Amino acid sequence: MNLIHVSLGSRSYPIYIGPSARVALAECGAGAEGDTQVAVIADETVASLHGQRLEPLLNLGHIVITFPPGERSKTLEQVEALHRRLAAARVERHAVIVTFGGGVAGDLGGFVAATWLRGVRCIHMPTTLLAAVDAAVGGKTGVNLPEGKNLVGVFHQPAAVIVDTDFLDTLPARDFTAGLAESVKQAIVRDAEFLAWHEATAAAVCGRDPAALAHLITRNCELKADIVAQDEREAGLRAILNYGHTIGHAIERLLGYELRHGECVALGMLVENEVARARGLLAPSEADRIRDLIARLGLPLQVPRPLDAPDVAAACRADKKVRGGAVNFVLIRGIGAPVRVADVTPAEIAAALTAIQ
Ligand SMILES: NC(=O)c1ccc[n+]([C@@H]2O[C@H](COP(=O)([O-])OP(=O)(O)OC[C@H]3O[C@@H](n4cnc5c(N)ncnc54)[C@H](O)[C@@H]3O)[C@@H](O)[C@H]2O)c1
Ligand SMILES: [Zn+2]
Repeated sequence: MNLIHVSLGSRSYPIYIGPSARVALAECGAGAEGDTQVAVIADETVASLHGQRLEPLLNLGHIVITFPPGERSKTLEQVEALHRRLAAARVERHAVIVTFGGGVAGDLGGFVAATWLRGVRCIHMPTTLLAAVDAAVGGKTGVNLPEGKNLVGVFHQPAAVIVDTDFLDTLPARDFTAGLAESVKQAIVRDAEFLAWHEATAAAVCGRDPAALAHLITRNCELKADIVAQDEREAGLRAILNYGHTIGHAIERLLGYELRHGECVALGMLVENEVARARGLLAPSEADRIRDLIARLGLPLQVPRPLDAPDVAAACRADKKVRGGAVNFVLIRGIGAPVRVADVTPAEIAAALTAIQ
């Protein structure tokens, strides 16, 4: 089992990664021997596939609360429903909430944990690749509004993150591939060598080779832990992780969450690279290199149906990444060289959108 430490002073926590990592629940105080009250907030699909593997590891009195799978559950209505289940079960302040599922379980369940009785401890057990490489680490929690993604939320660092790679075995191909987009994103903004590793190892990664997967998850968690330790609340550095996301979130919402988050991030990177290329910031060869990798990993290169450019520009303005009315974009000048800009025009967005439709 690999162990990574997120250094945040009194809010520091471990990330356990590997097969059977779920046994670490005992070390986190949520194990069968402990007397801590445990509430599991689980994606319905994940609970039915893997709930039984968790049962013997949790204390006898634990409760499991499920929600319907998918992005459409990231709502305030769902938060209220989960709060009311916690109320019915008389979950107290010393309790620990274990989130069990993908990024939706972590964002939604983490927000419920952060707000229940003004905040209870939370352990994330990510079961998608996307959540394992990105969403589970860093303490961002929240839900969507019809007006935009993740508009309501708080920072609530988990007490631990447990990535049990056994759970990934049942992940459908499409969700597995979507998770690779966040890994590619993080490599592009932070680690040129890791991007080259993706290129060299693409076949093994796509074939879910255990050693390749272990490295992929571990390296991403190391990179994210390092960024979060330096900039927990996105005052500066952490914002580079929004590369691909200004356009990505707009596409996600305009398509009514028909595509996976990771698929939208891949499309977002393509469009944002096109903006950077048109500005003369990014060499065409580098943009092509990223496009080739996205294609080889099986991520989409095109939107399933055309989007109106003014709608995309308007959706970008509704995103969180707006400051003083200007939309913030993370563009890249090359691998490992992100740059934050706030002056991308609707005309530039319209021109760049042609890259994916
Ligand atoms: N908090 C953060 O820092 C952060 C970072 C990145 C993304 N996110 C958020 O994460 C969300 C996307 O996460 P996601 O892609 O994991 O989506 P998800 O949680 O909806 O999971 C995708 C699908 O996979 C299924 N699933 C999950 N684990 C499975 C398993 N082991 N076997 C079979 N099926 C399984 C789920 O039921 C669901 O249908 C978005 O809401 C995004 O905004 C948050
Ligand atoms: Zn993301």
